[in-house]
Amino acid sequence: MDIKDFREVMKSTLFDEVGETIITDQQKKLPQPPLEKGYHEDEKLISLISPDNFTCGNISLIDALKNRKSRRVFSEKQLTLEELSFLLWSTQGVKRATKNATFRTVPSGGARHPFETYLAIFNVEGLESGLYRYLALEHKLVKLHVPSNLKEHLLEACYDQNFVVSSAVTFIWTAIPYRTEWRYNVASARIMLMDVGHVCENLYLASESINAGTCAVGAYEQNKIDELIGVDGEDEFTIYLAPVGKY
Ligand SMILES: Cc1cc2nc3c(=O)[nH]c(=O)nc-3n(C[C@H](O)[C@H](O)[C@H](O)COP(=O)(O)O)c2cc1C
Repeated sequence: MDIKDFREVMKSTLFDEVGETIITDQQKKLPQPPLEKGYHEDEKLISLISPDNFTCGNISLIDALKNRKSRRVFSEKQLTLEELSFLLWSTQGVKRATKNATFRTVPSGGARHPFETYLAIFNVEGLESGLYRYLALEHKLVKLHVPSNLKEHLLEACYDQNFVVSSAVTFIWTAIPYRTEWRYNVASARIMLMDVGHVCENLYLASESINAGTCAVGAYEQNKIDELIGVDGEDEFTIYLAPVGKY
């Protein structure tokens, strides 16, 4: 393939490779996939602070924008559970849900919201170090199996960019592409890549508002990071990371 062939993914199209108009799975009346990845009933859920009770995040938008930059050096200061709750809500928080869609703090093409948020937690008040997943609909965390040597494996999967493990928490976003493909078929990759940019930018601004910083991470080894968080790499795979820490 020529490098220019890869540009096609960025272009808007409703046609398949032989020029036929695409009929989406939604138009075929196939069932819509779930809005969120499920969890097992016996898994322990951890309550987060409700957005109604947030006391943090009060700096002005103009100050957050002025201060925003990619930060790769973090202090030893802990994030509080409220601050973590605020960051999760700022990036994927559900403000309203219907049977078929969620409406969140970030926009998403067709309100498909194809992402799940995994967290490698290292220094957050009241939470053991380990791997967690955010349940956006419930605004709760589910604790996942803790892989041995989490830091070592995460560092290796991110080409030794040390700030992914010197953080208080590292966000790892996965895509479940069928959520968007069900409606947008071949246009989905383009839409999901636009969607995830909104998520990470909200993390930048929300982090600045709690005297913390983040840095978008697009350089990682796909197989290693997918294996570490336990996703299949096909129907769900890592799409972006961002470590957060206090400065
Ligand atoms: C899609 C994307 C991927 C990035 N990946 C990395 C990365 O893997 N490692 C890194 O140190 N910075 C990464 N960055 C951060 C950029 O290097 C940074 O945004 C750029 O240098 C501009 O600096 P600023 O964010 O401080 O304005 C990434 C940024 C974006 C938007």
